[in-house]
Amino acid sequence: MTYDMRRAVGTAALAAAACFLAATAPGSGDISYNAGIYTQAQADRGLKLFTRNCAACHGDMFNGSESGPALSDGPFLDRWKDRTLADLYKKMHDTMPPPPDQPGRLSPQEYADIIAALLMINEMPAGKTELAADPAALARIHMR
Ligand code: HEC
Repeated sequence: MTYDMRRAVGTAALAAAACFLAATAPGSGDISYNAGIYTQAQADRGLKLFTRNCAACHGDMFNGSESGPALSDGPFLDRWKDRTLADLYKKMHDTMPPPPDQPGRLSPQEYADIIAALLMINEMPAGKTELAADPAALARIHMR
């Protein structure tokens, strides 16, 4: 499917799922990443940043290449399902893009924008508030 088709289909299918999951999110201040935790504008910015800085290895649509793993769909989500967005942010910020490039050379906001794009590609619904590059807040958002 093209990116636009995928987004349209994903948005329609997930609107209902998002209501259900938001209502059943775990307690104690935890947030599900299905709860609309980034905005569409932020994801669009993140996609441009990803294309420029990451896609050569991770594929245009986060689908992987010979030089880097896919950051979408089954295996990726399985690997990260018990972790938080703070872990994902730290992995990106501390190690990507890898040497001989310079890990951490993007701004904190830019890494957060790339996470927004990653969530969009993985068909998590957009909402009304941007995802902040705040490790404490990101640690409350679970990858499931
Ligand atoms: C030169 C190739 C290359 C570039 C450019 C690159 N990566 Fe990676 N990335 C890799 C490789 C190889 C791995 C697997 C090894 C590892 O986890 O460190 C990886 C792993 C990852 C992982 C963990 C995947 C998982 O399933 O655990 C994330 C997240 C990630 N990269 C994000 C990014 C982001 C965001 C950018 C752009 C800012 C980026 N990468 C740029 C090669 C690259």
